[in-house]
Amino acid sequence: MLLFIDSANIQEIREAHALGVISGVTTNPSLIAKEGRNFQQVVKEIVSLVDGPISAEVVSLESGGMVEEARELAKIHPNIVIKIPITPEGLKATHILRHDNIKVNMTLIFSTNQALLAARAGAAFVSPFVGRLDDVSHDGMHLIEEMVAVFKNYYLSTKIIAASIRHPIHVSQAALAGADIATVPFKVLMQMVKHPLTDAGIAKFLADWESVKNK
Ligand code: E4P
Repeated sequence: MLLFIDSANIQEIREAHALGVISGVTTNPSLIAKEGRNFQQVVKEIVSLVDGPISAEVVSLESGGMVEEARELAKIHPNIVIKIPITPEGLKATHILRHDNIKVNMTLIFSTNQALLAARAGAAFVSPFVGRLDDVSHDGMHLIEEMVAVFKNYYLSTKIIAASIRHPIHVSQAALAGADIATVPFKVLMQMVKHPLTDAGIAKFLADWESVKNK
């Protein structure tokens, strides 16, 4: 399973990228708003840092506007992937953009049927939101399992991005379920590195080393 970082914060993206574990970046309008900076400028900085799919989301609600925004964003860099919410208008836009060779990440996916529609319309990626389903007492990870099975049954090449990841267990569960990618907030990425036994092991090795280093 590949790991993307779910962030629009340049410092976080830089630090995550330096670890050598990040293959792409996802943003959304809320993450961009948190930075309080110009959208296009942020996206330009991200593509200069990470060489992989970089998702940038449209805000129009009708297909014409989505396509127009998508074409503008796609001019920034060939790695730009256009995030479009799953609606009838979003599907129409995805269908049009597929013929322009502009990749779409269909977002706000909460059911297997939505994912199937997105794949059939030509989305390169789908983003099921695991954490937001858990928030409303649905099993978010079950959705990933279903989608993996359906995409496998019909040889669909659309990549499944486990999104709305809230903690490290979500990441390992998504990997076990067969998601292609998990997009992970910086905080969760750092939590994935940590283990108390690793810290204790380092402390013990250093303490033992202290006792013999001058002998
Ligand atoms: C993914 O593409 C979304 O940007 C993100 O994972 C949403 O996460 P949230 O539910 O924590 O806002």
